[in-house]
Amino acid sequence: MERIQKIVSQSGYCSRRKVEQLIKEGRVKVNGVAVTQMGTKANYSDNITIDGNSINVKEEKVYYIINKPRGIITSTSDDKNRKTVIDLIDEEKRIYPVGRLDYDTTGVLLLTNDGELTNLLIHPKNNIEKLYIAKIKGIPTKEELQKLSRGVVIDGHKTSKAKVKLLKINKPGNTSLVQLIIHEGKNHQVKKMFESIGYDVIKLRRDRFAFLDVDTLKPGEYRKLSIKEVKCLYSLVKKTTD
Ligand code: URA
Repeated sequence: MERIQKIVSQSGYCSRRKVEQLIKEGRVKVNGVAVTQMGTKANYSDNITIDGNSINVKEEKVYYIINKPRGIITSTSDDKNRKTVIDLIDEEKRIYPVGRLDYDTTGVLLLTNDGELTNLLIHPKNNIEKLYIAKIKGIPTKEELQKLSRGVVIDGHKTSKAKVKLLKINKPGNTSLVQLIIHEGKNHQVKKMFESIGYDVIKLRRDRFAFLDVDTLKPGEYRKLSIKEVKCLYSLVKKTTD
C-alpha cells in the first residue's frame, strides 16, 4: 500500500501537491469511491481515477540481495507459520524471491517485485550461472566428480553440463568440500546431483548468482542492488533472448 499522492505522481500525471488539491476537490476515486482523507493509501493494482480518467501506474521496482541464513524458508508464506526470507527485509512492497534455496541452504538470494526480470533469470534458457559450495559426507573420486560435470539423471531428466572442483578433503572427518557451477535451478538440484553419485550433502551455500555475491554481508544481512547491477542482470538475460 502506498499513499495515493505518491502513486499518482509516480505515474507522471501530476505533482503530489496537485494530487492533494484534486483530492480536496473530490476528483480522485479509488475503485469508484471518492477519496476524502488526505493520507489514504491504495494498492498499485487498485483502479485510481481522476475526473473519471484511469491512472496507469507502475509500482516502483525494488531489487535486493540477501545472504540467506540457515533455518529460513524461501517462499513468501508458510502454512506452518515459520519465518520466511521476506520477513527479514524491511520493505512494504510485495517482493518475492528469484528462485529458491532450501531451508538449510545459505548464501546469495535475490528478491524483487520485478516479475519480468525474475522470469528471465530463472528461465533455464538464459543460462545464469550459480556457484555452490557443498560440504559432503565422504570423499568422491575423480571419476564420480566427472560424472557430475557431464550430467546425471535426477527425477528422470539429465542435468546439463556442470563445472565441478574438489576444493578440500578432510580425511579424518571423512568429508569434502566441492564447488559446483550449474545453470539450472531444479528443486534440490545440488543435493540430488550428489545423491545420484552416492553422497549426502551436509551443508550447502550458494556463493554466487550470475556476478553477484554476498561477501560483504553477514547471514541475514541484505542490501539493495545498484542500478548498474540491475542493468547488468538485464543485459545478461536480454543478450540471450533477443
Ligand atoms: N540445490 C539444492 O539442493 N538446494 C538448494 O537450496 C539450492 C540448490
